[in-house]
Amino acid sequence: MLNTNILTQTVQDYINANLNTDLHRLLLKKSPFSGVSMQEIVQQIKGRQVAQKKFPFLLKEGIIFPPQLNLEQSSSEKTAAYKSGLIKGKKIIDLTSGFGIDAYYLSQNFEQITLIEQNSDLLEIVEHNWNILGKKATFISQKLEEFLDQNQEFFDVVYLDPARRDDQKNKVFLLEDLSPNILEIQEKLLSMSEQVIIKLSPLIDLKYLVSVLPGIFRIDIIALKNDVKEIVAFLSKEKTLAITCNCVNLENDENTFTFPFGAEEDALAEYSEPEKYIYIPNNSILKAGIFNVIAKSFNLKKLHPNTHLYTSQEKKIDFPGRIIEMEIVDNKQIKKKSQFNIISKNYPLKPEEIKKKYHLKDGGNSYLIFTQSKKGKIILKSI
Ligand SMILES: C[S@@+](CC[C@H](N)C(=O)[O-])C[C@H]1O[C@@H](n2cnc3c(N)ncnc32)[C@H](O)[C@@H]1O
Repeated sequence: MLNTNILTQTVQDYINANLNTDLHRLLLKKSPFSGVSMQEIVQQIKGRQVAQKKFPFLLKEGIIFPPQLNLEQSSSEKTAAYKSGLIKGKKIIDLTSGFGIDAYYLSQNFEQITLIEQNSDLLEIVEHNWNILGKKATFISQKLEEFLDQNQEFFDVVYLDPARRDDQKNKVFLLEDLSPNILEIQEKLLSMSEQVIIKLSPLIDLKYLVSVLPGIFRIDIIALKNDVKEIVAFLSKEKTLAITCNCVNLENDENTFTFPFGAEEDALAEYSEPEKYIYIPNNSILKAGIFNVIAKSFNLKKLHPNTHLYTSQEKKIDFPGRIIEMEIVDNKQIKKKSQFNIISKNYPLKPEEIKKKYHLKDGGNSYLIFTQSKKGKIILKSI
């Protein structure tokens, strides 16, 4: 049951006054309010702290935050907004609404949205918040399998973001271990919609995904500031011969890189010793495993079969990743106590070990890359 006592002005003032307080210590205190426990207060404080980074659109008066697990399971407003830009239509349904961050954004280009969520307390919070935000929806608290058994409605888009924890709260990555089990319901989902969109863990293997989802026609690998957050699978009834993959790095001012699934198998890379520019692909490219495709597409040469670093004499500014002008140096040219971003790729020492060995400081604007070319170990320093 939603405790609306949280929203009284005195409780809200107390929450605002304690946004930076040590929450472990706060929990040991007795609540100054009769109708609100200290646990409930701490939940609201945590919610606001998470919202500041993950979904600032909810930092509004009257918004209620759910327990931490539900906050952790939510998408960020940035990735939700990206997905929202890919779809439009009349009716959308989110079968695993959770805290409703995805649903809120995904509904923007639709006339109607339905939210299904098995956790009725959570859905009650979402309904309350959407009222505050002036957003209309149909809220159904039910297991989605039961809903699917009764449903007669057709939707343009069915969206799912399955829960990734099993009963022991371990993270799981196979589709049959998720809740719901996508493999069991995929046919039903495709029969009631034009398109099914499923958000999955960044750890999921793309080849595995394609092998178990026959309707898949698009895969987006979404990074936010170079941290891969989501793999999103798009399914339709119509069999597509080619699956399009998109590598996206949001908030980093980089172009999306699109390639046909399977292209890596036919792509061959050329090799070279370092030329003027060194290229470090972003993590969505690395996750896609398109080490040769990326080299061919930008006319770059690889340094070594196992070193995912690339080089060219001319600068390829559209490359999805970092481009650094560098030169080869030897040990003696690295001054003690100087400051570098240290990168180690296909090199026996880890950055921490390199830092100790050469007495270096972390950070700054200069780079040192410890790696291997086909000729052997090399050190590259930014110019
Ligand atoms: C990862 S969260 C969704 C987060 C959401 N996309 C967001 O951005 O806030 C998954 C949700 O699916 C719900 N869920 C899992 N299995 C379900 C089922 N069989 N029926 C209905 N809801 C389910 C869980 O209770 C959980 O709240």
